[in-house]
Amino acid sequence: MRTTLTALTEELKRLKGAGVRTVMVSDESVAALRAMVAQRSAPGDRKQETRGETQFAAAPVPSVSPSPRPEFRAVAAKEAAPPPPSRLRSPAAAILPQPPVVELPAGPKAARWEALRELVLSHPVCQANVRPGKKVVLGVGSLNAQIMFVGEAPGADEEVQGEPFVGPAGQLLTKMIQGMGLQREDVYIGNIMNWRPQLPTAGNEQAGNRPPTAEEMAFCLPFLRAQIEVVQPALLVALGKTALDGLLGLGRFKTLGEARGQWHEFAGKPVMVTYHPSYILREPTPKKKRLIWEDLLKVMERAGLPISERQRGYFLER
Ligand code: URA
Repeated sequence: MRTTLTALTEELKRLKGAGVRTVMVSDESVAALRAMVAQRSAPGDRKQETRGETQFAAAPVPSVSPSPRPEFRAVAAKEAAPPPPSRLRSPAAAILPQPPVVELPAGPKAARWEALRELVLSHPVCQANVRPGKKVVLGVGSLNAQIMFVGEAPGADEEVQGEPFVGPAGQLLTKMIQGMGLQREDVYIGNIMNWRPQLPTAGNEQAGNRPPTAEEMAFCLPFLRAQIEVVQPALLVALGKTALDGLLGLGRFKTLGEARGQWHEFAGKPVMVTYHPSYILREPTPKKKRLIWEDLLKVMERAGLPISERQRGYFLER
């Protein structure tokens, strides 16, 4: 409990230092915090807890108040309404300024991409949203790639290494790319988000993920558009629901299944929507692998890649 409160206090101090004045907290989280503080104030543990509470209360941190949003209230109202999508219930996301307008210099691709990288990595809002010692993450890969994969957001491994898709989901993505007869270096790999949407990890780095909020996705989208502008891929592959929502618009599709396996369009580029590799990792059945593979076969066809009979039959054996 102490670790959680300390981690939360540190996070709030960091946000305050970064100029964030308000954070959204769901009613559920406020209730959980109240319970923690009440427990800490229990007789018998008074001396230590009073000190901790004073620090907590006196810390110059952003104000934390229950969200006024109706959707947060709906959660507290229990059975009154179905719970809203988890994206709307995500706690601890900072209020962000308007999305940036990205203007790239003219010139060769490499110089434009370097300028973009410098801009994103040093952007004060991106910096304010990564914890100390962790990295803002921009896409990687060939600037002449025909295919650009778009995922959700950096996770624990990615924010340490500063590169997208380097953890378990990334390793599976690399295998998928190799199955297509390509190397990771032949494609471009980016994300909707340039930072890891944070939850206090309380000592467990892998456990601190949450889906990005609509505001966070909207803020980072110009950076993704700019990467598309530089690389000019022939097509995009949206990996999972967040990539779908980020590229094609939140609320346009209720489920990934409605859009998956079909061609859509973003920034003038065809977009194939498929599952996120982590969906396969959770339950790696041949059936699921075949579904994602069928989408990738469509990508290969559209990109004009050679497809062998063997490749056509991948994951058909049940
Ligand atoms: N999942 C993503 O969507 N992106 C990453 O970079 C890593 C995991």
